[in-house]
Amino acid sequence: MTDRSAKSKTDQKSHWDEVFTNSEAFFGEEPSELARISLDLFRQNGVRSLLELGCGQGRDTFLFAQNDIEVTALDYSETVVSEIREKAAKSGLSSRICTRTHDLRIPLPFANESFDACYSHMLLCMELSTVEIAFILRETHRILKPGGLAVYSVRSSFDKHYQTGTHCGEDIYEIGGFVVHFFTEEKIRRLSKGYEILKIDRMEEGSLPRDLFCVTMEKGPVPETWDLEPCEEIEMTDHKTDKEAPEPTPGKT
Ligand SMILES: C[S@@+](CC[C@H](N)C(=O)[O-])C[C@H]1O[C@@H](n2cnc3c(N)ncnc32)[C@H](O)[C@@H]1O
Repeated sequence: MTDRSAKSKTDQKSHWDEVFTNSEAFFGEEPSELARISLDLFRQNGVRSLLELGCGQGRDTFLFAQNDIEVTALDYSETVVSEIREKAAKSGLSSRICTRTHDLRIPLPFANESFDACYSHMLLCMELSTVEIAFILRETHRILKPGGLAVYSVRSSFDKHYQTGTHCGEDIYEIGGFVVHFFTEEKIRRLSKGYEILKIDRMEEGSLPRDLFCVTMEKGPVPETWDLEPCEEIEMTDHKTDKEAPEPTPGKT
């Protein structure tokens, strides 16, 4: 198992802070399609408390909160966390939206079994190594109640930007200043320890478009070991790709 962290030229936290400072709604004003689908799933399963990882500017946070779900929204960008806090106060949703600045490579600041569900849209495909992603999913498992739901999306290896830009190790590439970890279905299954995968869907989002895997899982018992099975993927060793990113859209991931 590869245990190094992704190495990029651009400091990603500062990059996201800058992106969000320069754009009021970088991913748009509307909630994502994944959030709409997840809201139905959460309603059917009586979800009352939700932990959202990598909430960005809160397009999905507000959809959940407006529909009576208590959302704890986490991001490492202070810019978006204070933005969401102010917006929640203005819209009278402060009692349903709790925000926290937190880098997800550090243990979650919550008690065991304290949330009904966990949601993350395009967070696990950020500048995170496989070991760091496994750590986040293990932490998520810890804070979920028994049978709790975990929904996440990631950029897929079918995405037209896969293997473009600068290679940063594993299946991680820096494209136009944004570091993206691309997932295969095999990687999703390998990372599902402690969970039962309920479904894996494919979805396109945005104008690039981004090709996403959307994964729905249910918390299962603690596994005998959290160690990941050995990877059958051949690890790439070159650090530059000769493939150019297809028509990068300025300012968009
Ligand atoms: C692709 S954006 C998605 C934002 C939001 N989920 C959405 O769809 O609108 C990824 C988000 O993850 C955050 N992020 C990236 N790495 C993080 C980390 N290690 N810890 C916490 N947040 C992180 C970024 O600041 C950014 O807001």
